[in-house]
Amino acid sequence: MTTYAFWNNKSGVGKSYLTFQVASEYAKTHSNQPVLVIDLCPQANASSMLLGGMGPGDQNLDQLCNQAPRKTISGYMESRILSPYINPATGGTFLIQASQYNKNIPENLFLLPGDEQLEMQSSRVLNAAAPGPTDAWRMVHIWISDLIEDVKKVWNQKNITVFIDCNPSFSIYTELALSASDGLIIPFSADGSSKRAVRAVLALLYGITRVPGNQQSPFYLHSQQSRLQIPKIYFYVGNRLTQFKQSAQAFRTVVREIGNEIWSVWQNNPNVFFVHPPGQGSPATRSAFNHMFQFEINDANTASVVSSSLGIPLTTLAAGKHVIPGAATPSIVNQSQLDKLQPNIRDFVTSIMP
Ligand SMILES: Nc1ncnc2c1ncn2[C@@H]1O[C@H](COP(=O)(O)OP(=O)(O)OP(=O)(O)O)[C@@H](O)[C@H]1O
Ligand SMILES: [Mg+2]
Repeated sequence: MTTYAFWNNKSGVGKSYLTFQVASEYAKTHSNQPVLVIDLCPQANASSMLLGGMGPGDQNLDQLCNQAPRKTISGYMESRILSPYINPATGGTFLIQASQYNKNIPENLFLLPGDEQLEMQSSRVLNAAAPGPTDAWRMVHIWISDLIEDVKKVWNQKNITVFIDCNPSFSIYTELALSASDGLIIPFSADGSSKRAVRAVLALLYGITRVPGNQQSPFYLHSQQSRLQIPKIYFYVGNRLTQFKQSAQAFRTVVREIGNEIWSVWQNNPNVFFVHPPGQGSPATRSAFNHMFQFEINDANTASVVSSSLGIPLTTLAAGKHVIPGAATPSIVNQSQLDKLQPNIRDFVTSIMP
């Protein structure tokens, strides 16, 4: 069983969109295995899509937030703030089966919904991490790992694949998400700030600073001291790169620079990469490296708007007219568009190991 985090230190690069698309398709193609999505973002975009999209998804989310305790990540966090160092084993009680709210989602997909309350809780989570008992930092940073263990016990299942959607900020809850993850999927777009954000990921998580003597990230230092696992880079994903078509040359340069940067990390720190699939040897050439760690997701244009607004995964979306709540006219999804987009998501999911 593997836990994947979608994270980049930049917003709007497709973390939530990919969590939704990838987890749904993965659940569909692994119907004999439970799949868990943990939404560790206060914006809860992935949850909203999984719960039915614009309108119904948001209403469902509100209803889950109004329960006592909240049936969201914040409900779980509250139980851990009350018992920071002893796992109360409550993790399993906050999950919901997404298909009960959105019939477009496979029955084996379970969700721990996101919650705006996370933002309000973060200072109390930080207070639990320090000061406290000697090992407080570590014990707080494994709250999400504890949760996954709780779920495995309750379900009596070892084989759970977990996808975590993260907030772009390197906040305490992002640290908790990453501390529970084995594989890191870094979506990026083709602009200068994406390049800086990828560098920030490398520095914040792996202590890879470009200038010798630069301050090291406290998370990196603490995780080394506490022997806490850090996720390894599984994929870096160029998402909707063609949206920058107008400035083709500029975007190609950025994509190449990001590729070079990650390649140089591989050459100096191969241990921060998650070599996959199992049994595969380390890539010996640049092209084998690209094949293993790099992926490109197409810009889905109208189909993405329809898919996320209606909570219908792209791989099950039908061609034709779709009515989006609040839109003056129906949106049309062409079969020719889907014929390109669906295999692209399916290919990506094929490379995600259980
Ligand atoms: N491949 C794609 N094709 C078309 N639209 C996309 C694609 N990927 C993402 N989008 C759209 O881009 C916008 C930003 O994506 P998303 O919300 O997933 O980014 P994010 O990284 O989660 O942002 P944040 O950091 O704010 O959480 C959304 O409107 C989403 O539907
Ligand atoms: Mg998001």
